[in-house]
Amino acid sequence: MTATTAAADNRMTVRQVEFAYPATMRGHWNPGKPEFSHIVNAGSLAMPYLEPYLIKTMRAARPLVRDATLQADLDSYIRQEATHYKQHRVFNDELKARGYRAIEAIEARLAREYGELESTRSLEFNLAYAEGFESMALAVGEMLIEDREYLFGNSESGVASLVLWHFVEEIEHKNVAFDVFEHVHGNYFRRVHGLLYAITHIFLLTRGNYQALLKEDGLWRNWRSRVTLLLLIGRIFRKLTPKLLRILVPGYNPRQVGDPPWASLWVKLFARDRSALRLDTRRLDAAEPIPLAAPPPAGTP
Ligand SMILES: [Fe+2]
Ligand SMILES: [Fe+2]
Repeated sequence: MTATTAAADNRMTVRQVEFAYPATMRGHWNPGKPEFSHIVNAGSLAMPYLEPYLIKTMRAARPLVRDATLQADLDSYIRQEATHYKQHRVFNDELKARGYRAIEAIEARLAREYGELESTRSLEFNLAYAEGFESMALAVGEMLIEDREYLFGNSESGVASLVLWHFVEEIEHKNVAFDVFEHVHGNYFRRVHGLLYAITHIFLLTRGNYQALLKEDGLWRNWRSRVTLLLLIGRIFRKLTPKLLRILVPGYNPRQVGDPPWASLWVKLFARDRSALRLDTRRLDAAEPIPLAAPPPAGTP
């Protein structure tokens, strides 16, 4: 497949978004699932470090891209990722404001880790990492949407809406890092090395970060919480593993992965009235996203 045809079906919208977090919200924004809350919090804390690293990597690759459509996709990708990490920073500041002292050390480590990758590794390595991360993000996005009711049901709407919006857009730009990697340094073994490195690196960082948050809450040494955490991780990996294994197949291309219908419906809903930014977490079992407070139909007195 040439880069031109490869890039032709990429479609991305850079959305201006905003999420609200009530003052009463706790770090356990899903009151029934403190362990899942902290897994998501740990992932969110990484975003203002990981996503700028992806952006810098793609910017460094841009002069090597000799296809105007792919260049345009790369630019849209950068704008989407910039929106993501800025929104996560807002949420992370909300977490800090709730008194989590562990966050300072977590952020210092993340800055060190991604600064080191950026300054010591080749563009080839960083592009393979970026593609590995994006393929993993596609798999995680599919899993979160499939299991949305179990994971986000009855949780704080602002956080559920932030995370699901982010992953709808990860699905939307699923092809870009793959296309740029293939265009610039495409090679199966490099791709798989980047994937395995990115998965291991991110999972280890995330694990350290949610452990620190659970320790601060006094839950890490609580056996009930530990069993719940292990069962939750088991559930996540049961759903995620087949989606990760398919990335290892030679000839894998993210285009082979169909978009979850819920994600496509979210895009349509947002295009109509932005109400997709406030999801009703009591109705995540519905096939389509349901806004928290649907406006009355036009013409209603
Ligand atoms: Fe992102
Ligand atoms: Fe992404």
